[in-house]
Amino acid sequence: MSIAHDEAKLEALANKVMVDVAGAIGVLMAYMGDQAGVYRALDDIGPATILQLSQKTGLNPKYLHEWLGSNAAAGYVSYDPQAETFFLTPEQALIFTREGQPACMQGFFQSVVSQFETHEKAVETFKSGLGRPWGEHASGCFCGTDRFFRPAYVANLLERWIPSLDGVETKLRAGGRIADIACGHGSSTILLAQAFPNSRVFGFDFHEPSIQAARKKAAQAGLANVAFHVAEAKDFPGSDYDLACIFDALHDMGDPVGAARHIKETLKPDGTFMLVEPLAGDRMQDNLHPLGQIFYGFSTTVCTPASLAQAVGRGLGAQAGQKRLTEVLSEAGFQKVRRASVTPTNMVLEATL
Ligand SMILES: C[S@@+](CC[C@H](N)C(=O)[O-])C[C@H]1O[C@@H](n2cnc3c(N)ncnc32)[C@H](O)[C@@H]1O
Repeated sequence: MSIAHDEAKLEALANKVMVDVAGAIGVLMAYMGDQAGVYRALDDIGPATILQLSQKTGLNPKYLHEWLGSNAAAGYVSYDPQAETFFLTPEQALIFTREGQPACMQGFFQSVVSQFETHEKAVETFKSGLGRPWGEHASGCFCGTDRFFRPAYVANLLERWIPSLDGVETKLRAGGRIADIACGHGSSTILLAQAFPNSRVFGFDFHEPSIQAARKKAAQAGLANVAFHVAEAKDFPGSDYDLACIFDALHDMGDPVGAARHIKETLKPDGTFMLVEPLAGDRMQDNLHPLGQIFYGFSTTVCTPASLAQAVGRGLGAQAGQKRLTEVLSEAGFQKVRRASVTPTNMVLEATL
């Protein structure tokens, strides 16, 4: 049965969805190119024919032909039809293959692909309304999260976020105690340990495989002032911390107030809680843009189910906004909360007693 509609609006929406579908397959192509080393090879050898690229990567030229067609159509690689060669512009290289650069988006792609990988579980969870534990995601979710967040921490943690906190940098330079709660693969913990060699840094997370990955990275970095432990945010060990931090994880917790209360109890009286959360406005209408779309999406399949799988199940969501986060911190007993810093993707709240 046809419904009355505006033809121009229908066409505009259909075109928009077509672009989104192209993007969805583009993300998978980008992830495959990363895992199979095609972008790296193109970055190494410069303009190459399909056969040259096949020789460099060992990949079937028939598959490369299709993959390169899709990538060139997406604007992810460049094509010179006269020379029949493919190449990466500097911008394409930065986004698709330069791991560790702030512009590299491969962690993003890996995280999205990991959600498609377990789509049946996502639908089942959505329909049931029940929780889905963090640890039950595909491994790409954990690696992708680390790869995605790490460049932002490298770019901001030491140069902007720590200096934005009142008096913290001086204490850490002299030698203090830091707790990084829900540290995942420990990228933020390791950055702090490297920057403040006189301080002791402790990373905690309840997901054992993540703690193992963090320990491996710390050993590779040859750090003696960092230790990782499997622990719940509500009862991680230790006391007298000068700085406690949570990076992009409070909203994943079932009981964020319980976690913040435990932080308050383990901080020194003049200690600081630095809360890093995804940037969001307080009302849904403030977050209706591509970043909001991405965060609400991950929140549907990862963050909110992770919270609902835990005791209390507060389900803050990945777009909680400063007002609701401040309410959580106040409920936990923090007297002063202020926004200390902001980036295009994160806000940093400073909570003190
Ligand atoms: C989105 S990841 C962020 C990890 C890390 N902070 C980062 O920025 O890369 C969320 C992390 O919170 C951890 N987590 C969630 N609830 C927790 C809880 N109640 N206690 C300890 N860790 C928790 C998960 O295991 C996961 O590593």
